[in-house]
Amino acid sequence: MADFKVKNLSLADKGNLLIEWASNHMPVLNQIAQRFSEEKPLKGLRIGACLHVTKETAVLVKTLAAGGAEVALCGSNPLSTQDEVAAALAKVGIKVYAWRGESRDEYYWCINRVIDHQPTITLDDGADLVSTIHSSRREALENIRGGTEETTTGVMRLRAMAEKGVLQYPIIAVNDAYTKYLFDNRYGTGQSSIDGILRATNILLAGKRFVVCGYGWCGRGLAIRARGMGANVIVTEVDPLRALEAVMDGFQVMPMSEAAAIGDIFVTATGNIAVIRGEHMLKMKDGAILANSGHFNVEISLPDLKEISVSKRTIRPNLEEYKLKNGRRIYLLAEGRLVNLASAEGHPSEVMDMSFSNQALCVEYLARNPHMEPKVYRVPKEIDEMVAKLKLKSMGIEIDKLTEEQKKYISSWESGTI
Ligand SMILES: NC(=O)c1ccc[n+]([C@@H]2O[C@H](COP(=O)([O-])OP(=O)(O)OC[C@H]3O[C@@H](n4cnc5c(N)ncnc54)[C@H](O)[C@@H]3O)[C@@H](O)[C@H]2O)c1
Repeated sequence: MADFKVKNLSLADKGNLLIEWASNHMPVLNQIAQRFSEEKPLKGLRIGACLHVTKETAVLVKTLAAGGAEVALCGSNPLSTQDEVAAALAKVGIKVYAWRGESRDEYYWCINRVIDHQPTITLDDGADLVSTIHSSRREALENIRGGTEETTTGVMRLRAMAEKGVLQYPIIAVNDAYTKYLFDNRYGTGQSSIDGILRATNILLAGKRFVVCGYGWCGRGLAIRARGMGANVIVTEVDPLRALEAVMDGFQVMPMSEAAAIGDIFVTATGNIAVIRGEHMLKMKDGAILANSGHFNVEISLPDLKEISVSKRTIRPNLEEYKLKNGRRIYLLAEGRLVNLASAEGHPSEVMDMSFSNQALCVEYLARNPHMEPKVYRVPKEIDEMVAKLKLKSMGIEIDKLTEEQKKYISSWESGTI
């Protein structure tokens, strides 16, 4: 069996420059890599990773290898692999199976090659690796002692597996660390999704009506960044609490059926299916732009879009024009896949520094705790706090310390109104 499959190995030098650039902006992960290379806490582990193959992921993979692990890697989305990075990793002996533009079959072929390496730990982003292992590759379960999950949608799928009693090994929900979702989902998705939209279209955001579907962590990042560029932001939600937050954060909130008729740009970030459907598309203005930042390409109903269209043209990479039966045109970005990864470069390295430091430390935690129950776990508080502390330190920011009097005061009940 070949030890890797990438688009073009001669891109490795370019990939190395990108990885170096990312690494320069990932001081916390570098510190962990330094310790890992001295202590080798992951010695003997075989890691099977299904993550977006970006320059930041390369820094994580190298960190895990520095800790003594063998790593096999595939992409977690058919359109998100940076081919230069995949080539650079293959050249240093990482078993990488990933290229940009995989078909569905190729995508699962790559996942299966990672499973062939008999991982003892899995790293997943969206739970396609874990669900493949639990459905068609159950023999792999024998070697696996634990795993981690990077994103909201993956955690939802894994919790569903745990509730139904089918999850066979422990998984740490890296997504749910404060030092992950408060920064990666919010500021990472906010900035990089706008970046993806601009790279695909180069439109002016100022003055546009920018509809954000879902006011979760990704949605609020998108909303604040779009407002910062002068757009009028409209939010759609199904959760009354989050809708209320959006209202009090100063955004217009309305149902999709109303937003459809007035929006210029629509971005989904819900983790849900068919949030924008044919009935909405038929109400949209000529020239409306649709993009998705949620994990899977199901948030904008592509079957509906195809059904109500009479023709389709590719205007430029990541920008497709659909002509509808009603004569209007709708522009779909990045085939409805994660716009920030397919049309830009994913999150900036600075936020991935925190997400992937959590990943590295959670892998170490799994290595040190081999007998955990098959459940979905939160990231241990010590890890979350350590990542926050190290990140602040790397930014040169100091904070106050509690005095002894303050520690006593906040843990007592005796003193009240004075
Ligand atoms: N693009 C990226 O790089 C990136 C990064 C992190 C997470 N994600 C993905 O983005 C998605 C959202 O993640 P999150 O952390 O913001 O989740 P979240 O749970 O915090 O937020 C999702 C929000 O969508 C709302 N929602 C659900 N169905 C809806 C509907 N039909 N209409 C309107 N709103 C609806 C929910 O009420 C919730 O408030 C997930 O799929 C996640 O995996 C993508």
